[in-house]
Amino acid sequence: MRIARSVDEVRRAIEETRAEGLTIAFVPTMGALHDGHLSLVRVARARADIVVLSIFVNPLQFGPGEDLQRYPRDEEGDTRLATEAGVDICFLPNVDEMYPEGRSTTVSVGDLGAILEGADRPGHFDGVATVVAKLFNIVAPDAAVFGQKDAQQVAVIRQMVRDLSFDIEIVVAPTIRESDGLALSSRNAYLSQADRQRSPALHRALLEGEGALGREGPEIAEKRMWEVLINEDLEPSYAKAVDPVTLGPPDPEGPVLLLIAARVGTTRLIDNLLVDRGTANERKGA
Ligand code: PAJ
Repeated sequence: MRIARSVDEVRRAIEETRAEGLTIAFVPTMGALHDGHLSLVRVARARADIVVLSIFVNPLQFGPGEDLQRYPRDEEGDTRLATEAGVDICFLPNVDEMYPEGRSTTVSVGDLGAILEGADRPGHFDGVATVVAKLFNIVAPDAAVFGQKDAQQVAVIRQMVRDLSFDIEIVVAPTIRESDGLALSSRNAYLSQADRQRSPALHRALLEGEGALGREGPEIAEKRMWEVLINEDLEPSYAKAVDPVTLGPPDPEGPVLLLIAARVGTTRLIDNLLVDRGTANERKGA
């Protein structure tokens, strides 16, 4: 695996593969790699000849008082896991390389980035869209792989790709979970033992919401999800049943995205379930 720390270096490595006529799939991450990230690498490998992985804890997407400073960082472990997973090129820039002094352009997708997670974390999705646009311009991949785990992020990236005419296929990979249902996340490392035991309640709430959706519709589904979270002593921020593309009210016949954010102790976790109302199953990779 080649490690590139500068924009020039990673561009040179990518140009060499382009000259050989090889296709490129890109997996952007903030590191502290776990099986969720590695599943994206596997999807990327199946899509293209070369896999480029980026690891960059992007300060622009953290608000004041959020966990930028303590966000887990493990370059040695990450590069080992990336090598084992078959990543060809790992882009590991530092903050100065990505944001040299004097930068001032921001990419914003508007309303889609201002609701739900965006309402709780103002500016978060502008930070995500800005770094992903920049990474897309640096790597210029044929395809980029994102996790369903961050469903609003997927909606934001798709909107940005449409609006800015990026010629990049966006591939979405299913959420990888622990055996008790907790979605893998780098932030799970913050959970105390007691909080870890309560955290599968997010997934339980989504399953309860899925059942209620089939029987009683989206409003009751939202109510049931909220109740499960409260009953399990979590502090919900939102529990919504929305259209997976617009994140607005769902089409009566169409798929529904169940979205949850809740605090477990001091840790804020998010999770979601995409429900195809034809079959009421989570749509794998949709
Ligand atoms: P990060 O949280 O490191 O996640 C990187 C990618 O891994 C995202 O596409 C995310 O959805 C996916 N992922 C995380 N947990 C997953 C799980 N349990 N199953 C499947 N996929 C999972 O998302 C970001 O970084 C950043 O916002 C980024 C896009 C890199 C921009 O800075």
